[in-house]
Amino acid sequence: MLYPLDETISRDQRITAMHQLPFVVWMTGLSGSGKSTLATALEKGLIEKGFKVYLLDGDTIRTGLNKDLGFSESDRRENIRRIGEVCKLMNNAGLIVITSFISPFRSERDFVRSLIPPSDFAEVFINASLESCEARDVKGLYKKARQGIISEFTGIDSPYETPLNPEIVLLTNKESENESLSQLMNFLLPKISLAL
Ligand code: ADX
Repeated sequence: MLYPLDETISRDQRITAMHQLPFVVWMTGLSGSGKSTLATALEKGLIEKGFKVYLLDGDTIRTGLNKDLGFSESDRRENIRRIGEVCKLMNNAGLIVITSFISPFRSERDFVRSLIPPSDFAEVFINASLESCEARDVKGLYKKARQGIISEFTGIDSPYETPLNPEIVLLTNKESENESLSQLMNFLLPKISLAL
């Protein structure tokens, strides 16, 4: 038999095959803080540099894998738990994964961190004030939450637990998108590039 079934592919073999070091960029922050915008720009920037990247966000996850989940505390915990497991698989596969979820609870963020090798993981806190997110209210959801049309909305009547030890904090209120993006890129590139 050419490929014995008991032989697994090692991490080093995956790294060689993928020409990159795997990584999980875990973005967390309030709705409207700029997570998706930055995540999308980061994915594009990395793809243009030749990296193999995949972005996980509400559009891809809450409409498929997690379409059975809503926004109760237990559903949000389960949402993040499943996404964490997906990240673990993608990390094993050698990909660079970017996630863009509110992920409001420390315990689930810590759980995800525990699934991934420490060298391959960064929690990125997209730190925009509630006031600024609500003032922009891009999707009109804060207004609905204040009117009581939506309940359990993060920052209004559902908690957001601020990260205690994030690897990066981006002040998207105060910095331009390009400034935040280059901070992220500068942090990430040495961690995902293979030494020549
Ligand atoms: S999480 O809390 O489980 O991590 P997730 O990032 O998947 O949340 O989804 C958040 C997005 O869902 C928000 O940006 C918003 O567009 C939408 N949304 C709908 N209802 C709520 C709600 N009650 N609280 C927060 N976001 C909501």
